[in-house]
Amino acid sequence: MLKAVILIGGPLKGTRFRPLSLDAPKPLFPVAGLPMIQHHIEACVQVPNLKEIIILGYYPSADLQQFVLDMVQEYKISIRYLQEFIALGTGGGIFHFRDQIRCGNPDAFFVLNGDVCADFALNEMLEFHRGCPNSLVTVMATEATRQQSVYYGCIVRNQQTSEITHYVEKPSTFVSTLVNCGVYVFSLEIFQNIGAVFKRKEDEFYSRNYVKNGKDTDFNHIQLEKELIMPLAGTGRAYVYQTSKWWSQLKSAGSAIYANRHYLQLYRSRHPSRLLTSETAPCKIIGDVYVHSSATVDPTAIVGPNVSIDAGSSVGPGVRIKESIILQGASIGSHSLVLNSIVGRNAQVGHWSRVEGTPCDPNPNKAFAKMDNPPLFNSNGKLNPSITILGDGVTVPGELIVLNSIILPYKELSRSFKNEILL
Ligand code: GDD
Ligand code: GTP
Repeated sequence: MLKAVILIGGPLKGTRFRPLSLDAPKPLFPVAGLPMIQHHIEACVQVPNLKEIIILGYYPSADLQQFVLDMVQEYKISIRYLQEFIALGTGGGIFHFRDQIRCGNPDAFFVLNGDVCADFALNEMLEFHRGCPNSLVTVMATEATRQQSVYYGCIVRNQQTSEITHYVEKPSTFVSTLVNCGVYVFSLEIFQNIGAVFKRKEDEFYSRNYVKNGKDTDFNHIQLEKELIMPLAGTGRAYVYQTSKWWSQLKSAGSAIYANRHYLQLYRSRHPSRLLTSETAPCKIIGDVYVHSSATVDPTAIVGPNVSIDAGSSVGPGVRIKESIILQGASIGSHSLVLNSIVGRNAQVGHWSRVEGTPCDPNPNKAFAKMDNPPLFNSNGKLNPSITILGDGVTVPGELIVLNSIILPYKELSRSFKNEILL
């Protein structure tokens, strides 16, 4: 029997995802029509004998309740949300809820970072893990460019055995182009190692008599990468499984557009019924398009490629939408254009308006390039061109242009915006 744990963090994480994470937790942000972590769940339920998925985070339970109910109903396996009392780090929650993970005596369990998106090759990875003698953990890894690798956990391995010989989390100088994807398989024996880390920190805490209650002094907070994987490097008990399939982080709103495109592309082979075809489409479509059955799209609109339109949205006559995500209940007025943008829940775009952003895709001319997460502002204090985001409930009246801008929720625009953030 197997289990899976999905790490989703909490309200203080995902700051780069604002304003999209202001009203709803980031892990539930819909990509290709499904909440971000539903794609993880879909990958997990494909693993034979996987009996339970535990979602671990410090969002209030109420935020996840409906989602969990929906998932249980849809996939008919045990799915639970366990809430950490404070942020316990990527490893602290696994230790805190160890009895929940161990119960039923699984042979192994997956751990998946909730803020990545991928064509998760979990079955192949599990098979690999089982073939590694004495393995406590197998880390999924992918190739990155030299320059970008330092933003990830970097892995050096023995080419023959795939053993991890060296691991550095976000190094300050170049270590390796093989980077941690944030997807792991652990053998149950790992709890002895996490237990030992916890015990050491606990002893340290009480012997030093800390009164501070910061992150560094809290012994409940355990970093999986630094405190568990790093010490295991070179012991012959940690292995790396390299994937060449699509993988990316999902940190910024720009990466949601990128993830949307790739998940839609995966639907072609995995869930073709989720994509519109020229027979089923309500209007002219180009490439991969997902439209929720309750959305209304005028027959004269042209949609695609790489567009997701959520429940209850409406798209008027003559509208053109490309490379964008239209969230629940949003409406796009007649003859408007939406390009490289995310339109928030219940946002309204008037007639003859233009909502346009700049994509931030990985450099196509560089092998293994990942998405950059450029800072919001450049050195001149100007907003870096990025996708346009209309927050929830934003109103864009007719005949306006919103270009490379971020509009916070519930704003009513009275003029056009270019390279601006409207707070
Ligand atoms: N439950 C819980 N509790 N989850 C957490 C916590 C916590 O206190 N802190 C972070 N997480 C979750 C996040 O939501 C995310 O899904 C995952 O754990 C990793 O989060 P970060 O701490 O932000 O790490 P990172 O994304 O910068 O780097 C990690 O992932 C990279 C791949 O995306 C590392 O594992 C890197 O080595 C790796 O390359
Ligand atoms: P999370 O999104 O949950 O990680 O929170 P955060 O936005 O506060 O990000 P974090 O504290 O991890 O990183 C702070 C800043 O470091 C980001 O805003 C980026 O400017 C930069 N940074 C972090 N990771 C990357 C990366 O993978 N690539 C690039 N280019 N910059 C990064």
